[in-house]
Amino acid sequence: MSTVPKGTGTLQPSVGARYAGMLGVGGYRPERVVTNEEVCTWIDSSDAWIRERTGIISRRWAGEHETIVDMAAQAAAPALQMAGITADQLSAVIVATVTHTMQTPAAAPMLATRLGVKDAAAFDVSAACAGYCHGISLASDMVRGGSAEYVLVVGVEKLSDITDKRDRGSAFIFADGAGAAVIGPTDTPGIGPTVWGSDGEKWEAISQRVPWDRIVALQLEEATTGKPADWAAAGAIDATEASTLKMAGQTVFRWAVWSMAPVAQRAIEAAGITAADLDAFIPHQANMRITDAMIKQLKLPADIPVARDIAETGNTSAASIPLATERMLREQEVPRGGLALQIGFGAGLAYAAQVVRLP
Ligand SMILES: CC(C)(COP(=O)(O)OP(=O)(O)OC[C@H]1O[C@@H](n2cnc3c(N)ncnc32)[C@H](O)[C@@H]1OP(=O)(O)O)[C@@H](O)C(=O)NCCC(=O)NCCS
Repeated sequence: MSTVPKGTGTLQPSVGARYAGMLGVGGYRPERVVTNEEVCTWIDSSDAWIRERTGIISRRWAGEHETIVDMAAQAAAPALQMAGITADQLSAVIVATVTHTMQTPAAAPMLATRLGVKDAAAFDVSAACAGYCHGISLASDMVRGGSAEYVLVVGVEKLSDITDKRDRGSAFIFADGAGAAVIGPTDTPGIGPTVWGSDGEKWEAISQRVPWDRIVALQLEEATTGKPADWAAAGAIDATEASTLKMAGQTVFRWAVWSMAPVAQRAIEAAGITAADLDAFIPHQANMRITDAMIKQLKLPADIPVARDIAETGNTSAASIPLATERMLREQEVPRGGLALQIGFGAGLAYAAQVVRLP
């Protein structure tokens, strides 16, 4: 019998790469273009109002049978190709989403299997529009901490599933798509410190209208009594509306405009650079007016390219930053290897920002 008391053994710490960086990005935009004119067939609005208040001209909606795993896989392929690695080299897959249609299991293991990744850690992150920046932060720490070598981070949403087409306050804003990034070891620092946080007191500013347990209880009541349940008491017109998003537009707008510019500023400072060093500003594509207000508050140099992907993509929550990044690189609006400030913010409320070196 050993005389060494239990609990005195020294654990080996994991050892990671010195630096992590973004090695590849990719995007997938569903085929179907939904114009403002089409939106105006569902709600009392106008193309001019939607353009002026949000900057959105059109958005993409996924096909009825197109899932977030389908879209994520489409975005992952070009990201892996740009990174110059194959799927089997991935040791972790992170999916940032709020529109996976199952409470469990997560979408990430399905995506990993779809891509042919074997035995990788795979999990979802639920931080809404801040989900992708949360994923980048986790992936960077995993590579540097030694718990993964190459990590795939996908922001993907099918918000059309949870958009109430009758809701004049939100039907025009949300859209579908996927964007992906591959994070791996690099010779120089490629991902600056993340500035992140949350404010759960404002959780009601954007949320599912009625919680699942309440929806299930009301549906059971209808099935057993044969009479319509009191959906109004739960805060919805009917079962369909109950599972959709409700948004206090002005509350979110004010929070984003006033609270997010200081977060972005802190991310610039944490990275040890100044705004003049940036090659691009890639904020969450929530609303073009929020982006414009942030540019002003951050006093960004006038010649910095700014992501304006929302015009033709809409607000795709977790997918919006990688989709905008993919477009800016593809259209050569920013140089490969340039420095980009990215910031995600939304439901939770939750936010995360970091400066990254583009692949
Ligand atoms: C949703 C949003 C575009 C609404 O814009 P807004 O300027 O706040 O609009 P308001 O709700 O104050 O309404 C202003 C006017 O437009 C009208 N209006 C509201 N929705 C409308 C619509 N879809 N079409 C036309 N007019 C509309 C209102 O009736 C009101 O008219 P009034 O001035 O005659 O009373 C805006 O609040 C927003 O973008 N918020 C942030 C949302 C966001 O980013 N969400 C995602 C976060 S991740």
